[in-house]
Amino acid sequence: MKRVLKVVVALLLPLSLTARENVSVFVYSPAPSDGLHIAVQEGNVWREAGRLCSSDYGTWGVEKKMYHPSVCRAQDGTWRLVFQVNDRASLFAASYSRDLVNWRPQDYPIMSTKQCLEPVVFPNPDGTFDVYYKSSQGKRWTSVTPNFRDFAPDRASQIGDDAWVRDTATISGKCYEGNGFEISSMEWEKIEEYFRQSGEDWRKTNERMHDDAKNPVLPKEPVRATLDVDLSRQKSISDKLIGIFFEDISYAADGGLYAELIQNRDFEYSSRDHRGWTATTAWHSTRPIQIENGHPLSANNPHYAIVTTDTLWNEGWDGITVEKGKNYDFSMFVFAGGQKQDFQIMLIGQDGIVLAKSKLKTQAGDWQKYTTVLTAKVSDTKARLAIVPLKVARVGIDMVSLFPQETFKGRKNGLRKDLAQVIADLHPKFVRFPGGCMSHGQGLENIYHWNHTVGPLQDRKPDFNIWNYHQTRGLGFFEFFQFCEDIGAEPLPVLAAGVPCQNSAANALGIGGQQGGIPMDDMPAYVQEILDLIDWANGDPATSKWAKMRADAGHPAPFNLKYIGLGNEDIISTVFEERYEMLARAIRAKYPDIKICGTAGPFHAPSADYQEGWDFARRHPDLQYMLDEHYYESTGWFMHNRHYYDSYDRNGAKVYLGEWAASTKTKRPNVETALAEALYLTDIERNGDVVEMTSYAPMLSKDGHSNWNPDMIYFSNTDVRTTPAYEVQRLFSVYGGDTYIASSFSGIDSTCQHRVGASVVRDSKTGATYLKLVNALPTELSLTVRGLDIPATASTEGFAGSPEEQQLTIVKGEAGNAIVLPAYSFRVIKL
Ligand code: AHR
Repeated sequence: MKRVLKVVVALLLPLSLTARENVSVFVYSPAPSDGLHIAVQEGNVWREAGRLCSSDYGTWGVEKKMYHPSVCRAQDGTWRLVFQVNDRASLFAASYSRDLVNWRPQDYPIMSTKQCLEPVVFPNPDGTFDVYYKSSQGKRWTSVTPNFRDFAPDRASQIGDDAWVRDTATISGKCYEGNGFEISSMEWEKIEEYFRQSGEDWRKTNERMHDDAKNPVLPKEPVRATLDVDLSRQKSISDKLIGIFFEDISYAADGGLYAELIQNRDFEYSSRDHRGWTATTAWHSTRPIQIENGHPLSANNPHYAIVTTDTLWNEGWDGITVEKGKNYDFSMFVFAGGQKQDFQIMLIGQDGIVLAKSKLKTQAGDWQKYTTVLTAKVSDTKARLAIVPLKVARVGIDMVSLFPQETFKGRKNGLRKDLAQVIADLHPKFVRFPGGCMSHGQGLENIYHWNHTVGPLQDRKPDFNIWNYHQTRGLGFFEFFQFCEDIGAEPLPVLAAGVPCQNSAANALGIGGQQGGIPMDDMPAYVQEILDLIDWANGDPATSKWAKMRADAGHPAPFNLKYIGLGNEDIISTVFEERYEMLARAIRAKYPDIKICGTAGPFHAPSADYQEGWDFARRHPDLQYMLDEHYYESTGWFMHNRHYYDSYDRNGAKVYLGEWAASTKTKRPNVETALAEALYLTDIERNGDVVEMTSYAPMLSKDGHSNWNPDMIYFSNTDVRTTPAYEVQRLFSVYGGDTYIASSFSGIDSTCQHRVGASVVRDSKTGATYLKLVNALPTELSLTVRGLDIPATASTEGFAGSPEEQQLTIVKGEAGNAIVLPAYSFRVIKL
């Protein structure tokens, strides 16, 4: 205790007494949602310099708060931070920094007490640290190893209140509590430089094509330039650069790509899915619908409806769209006990007319599936399904289903044909599924378990969807793998790395965020679950029960899974790293050929998770073949970060840019976002030796149910609308290659080089060469191409428009004798 007091006294020394070449700084939090700031003393005045870090704990909007930060400096000059996250959780936040500006992702060590209030941290001479905090059980103490990751179980402490005495400083007229330090002027210069650079980056990032008329550096007259193509400088690049990201967000799966027309077919909706939802949501009757669970069809689907004499109606997903002359497969399970029931199954149009009908006779007895086919006599976009009992009898019904017979590739339990076709037209080289945040889930209980999504539909385990609705799991892993095969894409399943989403709400114990991860005792079972997936996908049905399950579902041949993703933009905490390592080691040991993809967190450099994610990959090169980076950014950011991958280590892990999209204030894909993405993709192709895969995200969004914007494809029950983002992805995918040929511009002013892009790739399979040209300038660009023979008859495909346009017209033509790119245009020339 003495030692602690000494440190506190040292911190309280008047800052003016210290050596001249040092700079006095003060770290503090101006407000809980504003994180940790630093101020510098100039004369007698404290000047706020900027934000150092902020809380990453818990859900957005409600949590992410930093209370009572306490910072100390270790003997080796590094920094440690602890803070309180709220007044309920049995944890505090802890972080580490070498320079005060870059902080390691926060850890939230779980203590034995109900609360961890006002934690304070002190360094010990042996390199360890003491953390004291207050709780309703009195003052507590825990000690931490030098790496600031391993916290001892907490114990009662008799430490005096002096430990909580903090420094104060008045900044902009307001007095704050915090910690004061003397740092060298060199250290301070680095901090200032960091803030200066961030400010400059931020200004560049704000550049918008929409504002070009006011941009003084851009040309007002047509530009003439030369593109030199150097055929002697070629390199191999990934032939899987463009794939797709599939997540059940914005009704992408249920009510979307999954062709099921009945909503809440399993009567499993509840308020966990969405506030106010119940087992009867989307169902209607003249009297309250009776729901029971005493004799379930499957333990995973406990609820079913009782039908006696009243008609049951289902409203579908915003209505049921049916087309005249088309057939629809109806099915339901009926449990009739001792009574027989017959039904009239009907589709009723908006005007009350009968669009289709068919009788269904059921037998007395236990649960049994009954089927019939409905043929629509008239088209309607908002039909309803009616289940009309024809006798007086009491039966249970469950898994009520209606599928168009026309699904993508005619698959049973298949996908919506029009939507799947638009996706297939992208020719994606891989499909990432099932998310996104849905993979790691809202809390431990909601982690996506692939094995809950295979087998008979009634036995699959539905769950709530992190995006505030319901997952039936009708579109499960079998359907995902089958879709990949149907469109010639590699499957890339991404599963939780033993931790839920770091933005999760608190569990029953009041612990939010990663919730401490899957308990270590349960990890072996989770590791086995991931190994089972590989066995299910690739194993031999004669020897493996999982592979037999695949074969029984209709696919005896292996799916030939090559990649697996572990983690989705997680906070790269100690809890994450421990679990990731367990999973990856087990996969490496049993399936050394499987390429494992790790994660670099939710943001680009220099974010904490990005840095720690890549550091972790460098420390464990055997555990990550590839790292998943995510960033959603402004068009300005993409235009000014064109060299992002140029300096990546060619001998390290590959990059999977797994989620990305450019956006403007309108949050809709338009010509401006498309051109920013096209520019960036020319740079991705140049770096195709280190970037192996990319996928724009999110892919799908249903009208009226959007959780996120912008998206690549918008749809309703009746139409599918592609966007400028889609066209850019399609053009880069269809006209991709496996060899990159170097090229460079001359004649373009350095102030606007970020607005033009070119990339030459060759596809060794077809022998075709593609030249992609992007002109994001507000003026025409006349180009002389040297080093590449471009016949006037070479075919071209592309678009031009004004930055705000959301609808593109794809123009096909011929190269002609002169290459003139209109303002704001993109063109592919096929050679
Ligand atoms: O793409 C939408 C969401 O963005 C994903 O679920 C998540 O990974 C990211 O935050």
